[in-house]
Amino acid sequence: MRNTTCTRFVSLSGIHPCFMVHVLLCALHSLSLVQILPLFSKYKVIHFNKTDARLANNGISTELQLVRCRVNFRALKFTPQIEALGNKLVQKLRDKGSFVALHLRYEMDMLAFSGCNHGLNPEEAEELKRMRYAYPWWRDKEIDSKTKRSEGLCPLTPEETSLVLKALGFEKDTLIYIAAGEIYGGEKRLKPLRAAFPKLVRKEMLLDSEPLRQFQNHSSQMAALDFIVSTASDVFLPTYDGNMAKLVEGHRRFLGFRKSVLPDRRKLVELIDLYNNKTISWENFTSSVQEVHRGRVVQPSCRRKLENKPKEEDYFYANPHECLANSSLCSGSKDTVTVR
Ligand SMILES: *[C@@H]1O[C@H](CO)[C@@H](O)[C@H](O)[C@H]1NC(C)=O
Ligand SMILES: *[C@@H]1O[C@H](CO)[C@@H](O)[C@H](O)[C@H]1NC(C)=O
Ligand SMILES: *[C@@H]1O[C@H](CO)[C@@H](O)[C@H](O)[C@H]1NC(C)=O
Ligand SMILES: *[C@@H]1O[C@H](CO)[C@@H](O)[C@H](O)[C@H]1NC(C)=O
Ligand SMILES: *[C@@H]1O[C@H](CO)[C@@H](O)[C@H](O)[C@H]1NC(C)=O
Repeated sequence: MRNTTCTRFVSLSGIHPCFMVHVLLCALHSLSLVQILPLFSKYKVIHFNKTDARLANNGISTELQLVRCRVNFRALKFTPQIEALGNKLVQKLRDKGSFVALHLRYEMDMLAFSGCNHGLNPEEAEELKRMRYAYPWWRDKEIDSKTKRSEGLCPLTPEETSLVLKALGFEKDTLIYIAAGEIYGGEKRLKPLRAAFPKLVRKEMLLDSEPLRQFQNHSSQMAALDFIVSTASDVFLPTYDGNMAKLVEGHRRFLGFRKSVLPDRRKLVELIDLYNNKTISWENFTSSVQEVHRGRVVQPSCRRKLENKPKEEDYFYANPHECLANSSLCSGSKDTVTVR
């Protein structure tokens, strides 16, 4: 790539020049270089408050998109402490063999705010509902969990995840790392998953409590550890398609299309219900699940663009196609709509 925009600023600080370009990209609309540069030389790091909202996915020159990739996927780093512990986790897992990172988004906040109750007892459902009502800024209060689940908008439960992994052909001795915070209901809730996959591990099982202690009270730092493991794993499978899953997906694409399986939750819950009430056999369930997921292993593809619906289109950070193999396929007409 041409990176004239980058090199012009190299001498200003020790920080990766592309980081600066990224910052400038965000800021140029409202601030002038003359204002920013002296601050940057002085402080080395500048936090642009209120600029972390959604960035444009499309309609940006290829040259700048390539810079974005260098920033997102190469230049940005976690603190040395997080990197070191994350790499240690990866090493411990690799010593045991190949492994799957399961982003099991079955955490209290997720369940409370999504209102997804499937498989919970009434007390648990009530507890989560109270939590949702306690946050005044949370807009959706009354939620129809059944409808939401049937639309594929709920994270898979540990029980559902276990069925899906088995149906996809993962063997009982597969090493699975749970890339998530505390699972709602704890070990009790993990029981079916652990019964199906005994080599199910969490970071707390791989590390002593001491090195984890400094991060324990900071969920985003704990998530950073999971992020490092998730990008490095042999297979990545998220049970919900939130920001974390999208970010990992993008990194794995960038790292040469490491295998990521994106579950089709809408079709899955339908099949799971049919299997659970004995309408379909296990054989039918497994072949149906495999059929549905044949096209759900991440492959080179073009981002889906939607006019005026930026929330629903594919995010740049999940599929930075400009920076990846076959990008020329995506440089055609501006309004191509290609679903991955
Ligand atoms: C960001 O700006 C808002 C006001 O616009 C302020 O209330 C808030 O404290 C700022 N956040 C940080 C981290 O500086
Ligand atoms: C984490 O938070 C708990 C509860 O607030 C507190 O008891 C503990 O000392 C904190 N741990 C660290 C390492 O800060
Ligand atoms: C099984 O579940 C499906 C989906 O929920 C439903 O349509 C069907 O009627 C159920 N069948 C039986 C026999 O309960
Ligand atoms: C599963 O069973 C359903 C209904 O019995 C049938 O329509 C479908 O073709 C079967 N699918 C597979 C993959 O066997
Ligand atoms: C991308 O290119 C590779 C190698 O040329 C090819 O095998 C693959 O089918 C292409 N993928 C797409 C989505 O076109």
